[in-house]
Amino acid sequence: MTSIKVWDPFIRIFHWSLAAGFVANALIIEDESKLHEQVGYVVMALLAARIFWGLIGPHTARFAAFWPRGASIREQITDMATHRRRAHLGHSPLGALMIFNLIATLGAIGATGYMMTTDMFWGVDWVEETHEALVNWAWFSIALHVSAVIWESRRTGVNLPRAMITGRKRIPDTLNLVK
Ligand code: HEM
Ligand code: HEM
Repeated sequence: MTSIKVWDPFIRIFHWSLAAGFVANALIIEDESKLHEQVGYVVMALLAARIFWGLIGPHTARFAAFWPRGASIREQITDMATHRRRAHLGHSPLGALMIFNLIATLGAIGATGYMMTTDMFWGVDWVEETHEALVNWAWFSIALHVSAVIWESRRTGVNLPRAMITGRKRIPDTLNLVK
């Protein structure tokens, strides 16, 4: 077993704060409250910081390091379908697609939320409906995200949730790494 540092503290704090902020706003906090808007803005600030970090942060955090390409996506699907045990040190190609989807969806939730607070869009039905539809899309994506994380952890033998807490991936010696 080799232990390799993959997620810096910012990524880990970002991840769990983003998840907590989303769940709090979608399930717990009264949606007509000031707190809903404030937590929503904290989530937006986290996303903005993440985008910045994706440009200047350490290697595994950079968008350029995990920008998904068609060929690598097909390879990962083949690995999954044929139970070929290979793993990625940073984000996998399919994982990366999900990450960009989640960042964009949460960003759009924030934008439509903000629009509802402006004179121009206040009380406009389609804005509220879009905000709600995007939250539903986010739930669907998160369910898929968590299922995929569990699936990939089992397939490769690398405990991915643990790595998102400790920052280190524990890679079994028998596993091949994809560059
Ligand atoms: C509830 C809402 C959640 C949201 C919005 C969310 C969002 C994200 C995002 C944006 C990333 C990319 C991290 C980055 O590079 O910045 C990510 C990665 C990750 N998330 Fe989540 N996440 C959620 C819940 C969870 C849960 C419950 C788990 C645990 C089972 C989890 C496990 C992971 C793991 C392991 C990764 C890294 C995957 C890899 O190794 O490439 N996430 N998530
Ligand atoms: C993590 C981000 C967010 C999540 C998960 C979220 C989730 C939700 C949900 C589930 C609703 C109820 C939709 C319905 O049933 O009609 C709602 C309504 C609303 N949200 Fe958000 N929201 C977020 C961010 C924001 C932001 C940033 C703002 C504004 C600054 C905002 C403003 C509102 C407003 C004004 C409503 C309508 C309340 C009403 O019924 O009058 N939201 N949001």
